[in-house]
Amino acid sequence: MTIQFNDETFRDDYTFRNSDWAIKRFPFPFHEDSYMYSVNMEQHRGGPEGSVFEKRFDVDEHYISEMRDRAIVLAEDPLRCQSLPHMTLAGWDLLELIMVSKSEDYPDLFELHRNGDKWRWINKPLGIDDTFTFMDDASLPYGPMEYITRQAQGDFAVLDQRENNLWMDAGMVTTQADWSLDFDIGMNFFEWHAPVPRAHEMGVFKRALKFLLNIQQGSPARRLNWTMTVNPLLDTSPENYHKWGVQKTSLMPENIGRKQHLRVELQTFYRLPRSNALVFPIRCYLIALDDLVTVPKWGRRLHRVIRDLPEDLATYKGFIRNRPMILDYLSQYDDGKPTSPGI
Ligand code: HEM
Repeated sequence: MTIQFNDETFRDDYTFRNSDWAIKRFPFPFHEDSYMYSVNMEQHRGGPEGSVFEKRFDVDEHYISEMRDRAIVLAEDPLRCQSLPHMTLAGWDLLELIMVSKSEDYPDLFELHRNGDKWRWINKPLGIDDTFTFMDDASLPYGPMEYITRQAQGDFAVLDQRENNLWMDAGMVTTQADWSLDFDIGMNFFEWHAPVPRAHEMGVFKRALKFLLNIQQGSPARRLNWTMTVNPLLDTSPENYHKWGVQKTSLMPENIGRKQHLRVELQTFYRLPRSNALVFPIRCYLIALDDLVTVPKWGRRLHRVIRDLPEDLATYKGFIRNRPMILDYLSQYDDGKPTSPGI
């Protein structure tokens, strides 16, 4: 289908909206009425048609506006994009992966023409038509990772693999759920996950790392993660907590359906060919509760998940204070009927 791109904001006047199409394909993350951390990994093989899982790098109606928001964040804080010197090769790998995927998956929007190492990249939605030499840093206006991730929705962590561990040695992180690339840069898998409650003791991270270390080229994997965000903010970073943290206190019974959003991250994992690095794209999808409850089984289930979520998880995810108000709202949409497993 042809995508109608929205002209919208994720800050100030918050004109972000989901169309009926975006609501219908929203990646609702709960396959049962309760939630606990697990090694919820599966193959990322494409399909079903129209879903956010269909293409390798989903492009939707928010594309142009999300890229504009990223540019604003980077102009204010260039440290949201960092790449340690040994990660440049991985940056070229990532540029290739995204350009090839997007031009194959969305030929009406993106074109890649390759003649040896002379490449021409056309990005129609963003009005870009650039010719450069593959692997020659000087031929692009930014480093290869920064160049391509300014044109791809979602955050990107690029992990070096050594000593049986993954190291966060590069990334583009402007749409994160309250963590900082500048703080985590150079950390390993267990170090950057240190603040997460329970999952270490449950053995989740040990098993997840084993899985990740064995991901092969051409066999990407994925998982979903979620949290709650007041206002459709992409940039909920610790760096800007002073701007968005206070907005949580603006939630009222009369505005909660419009302001409170479920934030779902589609996290994928790709092995890169030359560098053997692992790239971890984290794509953020937001939905206002008023839109979410238009699907009755989602409203019913979200009420039960939020109600029964252990306190330490609700605290870590940052909505413990607003949980009673969220439950008051959602309880109107829970008729007490049993739900069937699956989404
Ligand atoms: C949270 C990065 C893979 C499970 C986080 C956080 C970061 C992160 C930065 C936030 C930590 C904080 O509070 O500062 C990554 C990266 C990965 C990766 C770069 C790729 C290599 C995984 C995998 C799993 C996992 C494979 C499990 C199967 C979790 C969980 C949380 C978390 C459960 C807490 C999220 C929440 O409650 O909202 N991750 N992660 N991560 N990660 Fe990962």
